[in-house]
Formats: sequence, structure tokens, C-alpha cells
Amino acid sequence: MGRRGPEWRDEAAAALLVRYLRGIRPEGPTLVLGDPLPDVVDHLSGRGLEAVMWSRRALGGRRATPWPPDGPFGTAALRIPRAKEELAMTLHGAAGALAPEGTILVYGAKDEGIGSVFRHLDPLFERVEAVAVGGHCRVLRGRLRGSLQADRGSLKDWRETGRLSYPSLTQAWVSYPGVFAHGHLDPGTRLLLDALPDLPGNKRILDYGCGSGVVGGVVKNRYPQVRLELLDVDAVALEAARENVRGCRLLLGDGLPAVPGEPFDAILSNPPFHRGKAEEPEMILRLIRGAPPYLNEKGGLVLVAQRRISLEDAFRKAFRRVGIRAEDGAFRVWEGWLPR
Ligand SMILES: C[S@@+](CC[C@H](N)C(=O)[O-])C[C@H]1O[C@@H](n2cnc3c(N)ncnc32)[C@H](O)[C@@H]1O
Repeated sequence: MGRRGPEWRDEAAAALLVRYLRGIRPEGPTLVLGDPLPDVVDHLSGRGLEAVMWSRRALGGRRATPWPPDGPFGTAALRIPRAKEELAMTLHGAAGALAPEGTILVYGAKDEGIGSVFRHLDPLFERVEAVAVGGHCRVLRGRLRGSLQADRGSLKDWRETGRLSYPSLTQAWVSYPGVFAHGHLDPGTRLLLDALPDLPGNKRILDYGCGSGVVGGVVKNRYPQVRLELLDVDAVALEAARENVRGCRLLLGDGLPAVPGEPFDAILSNPPFHRGKAEEPEMILRLIRGAPPYLNEKGGLVLVAQRRISLEDAFRKAFRRVGIRAEDGAFRVWEGWLPR
């Protein structure tokens, strides 16, 4: 297994869990939570055990919902999520789906903080211990406590509202754990908002990777006539965007192939750059290369990215007019316009 590829933690953690599962017969059915890890499900199904996958993210075109399905499940196996507050919320979702005295298994890499998961498990689970260690990963196991089944047991229990400090976003702003920048305005997003192009009239605009809807929200407030679509892979982010940005269409899916319909006048984005702890500039390059077919003949892509990422070649290959709309010490707002 290569340590350098961005997926090594997924692979090592799943391999360790499968090794542990081989030695036991999980109380079934098993709920497999987190970003899709087919190895785990394949292993369980291969032994004739019932396994149900749940993820809030529609990665690879998979079905995604904001909250885990109703149980009861005998066992829940959770790949540690990247954000600590997402861990607590997902553990409550798993607890609510488990049968009385059901088993939780949490697995992940040491540098993702699997060691600090004990204290998150404690309020919900007892007899927590590490049952497998190897490949820089651990599997923790606990048993559902008897007393507190449905504590914070639905998505609405995790809804938070706050204020974003941006002039045209004055309303209370909804967010949930694990949604990008969770209730704050990211500095890269702020630079993009300050440097948005003029979008008068009823232009068709896509906010790619909308998160809680900050970019789309500013566009809609500035240009009420726009026909706005908000795309995100995260079903929970879309629940926040649904409340934050009125009069738009929400799309749940993995990248541009998930976007149906007419081409856009502009695609605006603070695009994803991280997969778990790993940086993946390829996600931004894919967006740049893939955008032209989704744009009309004079359409453009405007995105913000860390300035250390080299994007000029990709922009020049995909677009005729390329420029930098704004930059600061950390970020750069790129634009590319057709025709090629
Ligand atoms: C850097 S965040 C920006 C969020 C929001 N636009 C903002 O500026 O606050 C990137 C967003 O892209 C979403 N995302 C990641 N991969 C995606 C994909 N393949 N397709 C669509 N959205 C994706 C993430 O869920 C996240 O909400």
C-alpha cells in the first residue's frame, strides 16, 4: 500500500476493520457509515451478512441522505469523519439507529485523531476499547448505553444559526456540523465574493460546491433575477443551503456530471481541495477542464483557490480569456471565459 496516495488512510483503515471483522460474527444487520468504503460492505456481503451503507455525501453518484436510516441495526461501523463536530453528530445518528446494546465500531488513522474518539464515544457507548491496531490505524468498539437512545437523534437537533460578517448576508445563517466553514465566512470565499463579476439580468448561474450557500446567497441578493442552481455532494450542506438561499434550485451530486439542463452563463466556486486530511488539487483541475461543456458560448468559470496551486495552464487550455480577478497573500480568484 502506498503511503503517498490521498486514499491511503481509507485503504489502511478499511483493511484493518475487515481484518477485525474476519475474526467475529457481527450482530447483524450492520450499518456502514461514512464516506463510501465498499471493501467493508463487500466483506460483509461476501459472508452472507446484511450490510446497509449510509453516507451524507453522494460521492461516485451514490445515494446520499442527510441522516442515517432507521434501524434497528445490531452493529454500526463508522469511518472517522474529517471534522470533529461531524463525528459527534454522526455518532448520535448511529446510536439512534442501533438496537438496544448494539455495537459501534469506529475506525480511522492515528493522524486523523482516532485516539481522541474515546471521549466522543463515552456519552453514548460503554465498554469502549481498541480492538485492532495496525497500519497507523485503529478500530475502537463500544456498546450502546441503555439509557440515552435518541439523544440529539435527528438532524434538526444539530441545526445552528449565526451571523456571517458580510455586507449583503445579513440574515441569520443556518449551518450543520461538517458543513464547510461551519457558520463562518472562509477568507477564500470572502475574496471570491469581493471579486464576483457583474451578473445582471436573468443569467443562469451555478454555485459549484455551494456548502451552506454563501456564494449563491450573495449572488441572489445582488441580482434577484438570476436563475441560480446550487450544487453540492453533501446532503447536509444542501439542507442548510435550502434555508439560507431562497428561490434557487438545489442539486445533490458529485461534480458537473450531476448537473442537468441548459448551459450556464457563469459557474462560480470555492471548489473542494481536500479529501479528508489529504490535499487533492486534481479536484480543481477537473472542474476547470470539465467546465466548458456546461457553459454557454460566452460563459465563464470564476473560482478561488490557494495561490500556491498552479492553475494557469489548465485555465489557458480550457478558456480563451483568462485572468486573475483578485489575490491576497493566500488566495487567488481566477476567471476563464469562452469562446475557447
Ligand atoms: C471549499 S467548500 C466551499 C463551500 C462554499 N461554497 C463556501 O464557500 O463556503 C467546497 C464544497 O464543495 C463540496 N464538494 C466536494 N466535492 C464535491 C463534488 N465532487 N461535487 C460537488 N460538491 C463537492 C463540499 O461538500 C463543500 O461544501
